[in-house]
Amino acid sequence: MTNIKNQLDSSILIKGRTVENRVLLAPMAGLGHVAFRELVEKFNGFGLLFTGMCSAKAIPHENPDVSQVFKWRKQELPRLVCQIFGSDAVSMAKAAERIEKEGFFGVDLNFGCSVAAICRRGCGAELLKTPSLVSKIVEQVRKAVSIPVFVKFRTGWQDNRDFAVDMAKRFEDAGADALVFHPRVAPDRRSRPPRWSHIAHVKKAVSIPVFGNGNIFDINDCTKIIEHTGCDGVSLGRIAVAKPWIAASFTREFIPGKNIYAYTAMEMTRLLLKYYNEHFAIKLFKKFVPYFSANFKFGHSICRKLIKKNSIHEIQKNIETIFKDTPETLERPNLNMFM
Ligand SMILES: Cc1cc2nc3c(=O)[nH]c(=O)nc-3n(C[C@H](O)[C@H](O)[C@H](O)COP(=O)(O)O)c2cc1C
Repeated sequence: MTNIKNQLDSSILIKGRTVENRVLLAPMAGLGHVAFRELVEKFNGFGLLFTGMCSAKAIPHENPDVSQVFKWRKQELPRLVCQIFGSDAVSMAKAAERIEKEGFFGVDLNFGCSVAAICRRGCGAELLKTPSLVSKIVEQVRKAVSIPVFVKFRTGWQDNRDFAVDMAKRFEDAGADALVFHPRVAPDRRSRPPRWSHIAHVKKAVSIPVFGNGNIFDINDCTKIIEHTGCDGVSLGRIAVAKPWIAASFTREFIPGKNIYAYTAMEMTRLLLKYYNEHFAIKLFKKFVPYFSANFKFGHSICRKLIKKNSIHEIQKNIETIFKDTPETLERPNLNMFM
């Protein structure tokens, strides 16, 4: 255990830049917003944070003061990577230029999203159907910026390990500096477990860092994925929403106290109001709640209570009541509540 924690807590170079540790916050649209990242940063456990996907076409004209997604705190920029989705090399390269100008650590290209609305527009995992376009996009982005270029991708549209390996080589040849690999096929949206064994083959095929992603929920999962695949680090998605302190428990020996749940829920409401109007803050809080409630034995009931109210003040009063006596928690969150 100590060994794996030391490993996760060791620095890694990405395009010659030091990343303090090997635990990444995965990009999550609607969950990984600026308020959530500020909450996560209070525990200070992640080596890098990723924004949810932002439209490459929109980025050159986005105003961070009013944008709901292309929004950040200045202090997080040194470890913040902006993820973009798009369908053509020119708009992806232009977006990357703005991202570099704003001072982000890096840019991440989305070749993994399989949501129909994104694939219909020729973006995300849909691009994996045209490998030559994939290469062109990465090449153009590489030419446009000197910050690190990340690629997030999944296995493809069929469970073909060789295809994933081939794509990984393509990304590296086109100039990507690090890969985050989610070994699932595209139509499969988290219903079946990811095939971690594919990560080992991707890792062997390239010399840039490879981060494993998908169903990593605790330190034992980290041990398994790193020992079995040789990947350089991990990218945590839904478990980080359930337990925003999880990376700190891996990399900083953080041990949560009894009041962690009340504190987390309350801070989430406070930070959401700091960045968004009340209507939108409540909408985002309701997205966060099912993951957070998965920590509890009676999670469904807590979830229902937490999302019932229609003002932040009422939600906060509710949080005080629900967490006055800490509800019974589960060793491993109820994964049925993870969407
Ligand atoms: C609500 C939600 C939104 C997501 N949005 C994105 C996104 O914007 N870009 C992306 O590459 N992946 C996105 N993902 C996928 C995650 O980054 C990650 O690959 C997936 O959840 C598997 O990792 P996990 O098992 O640690 O959650 C999203 C996942 C969820 C649950």
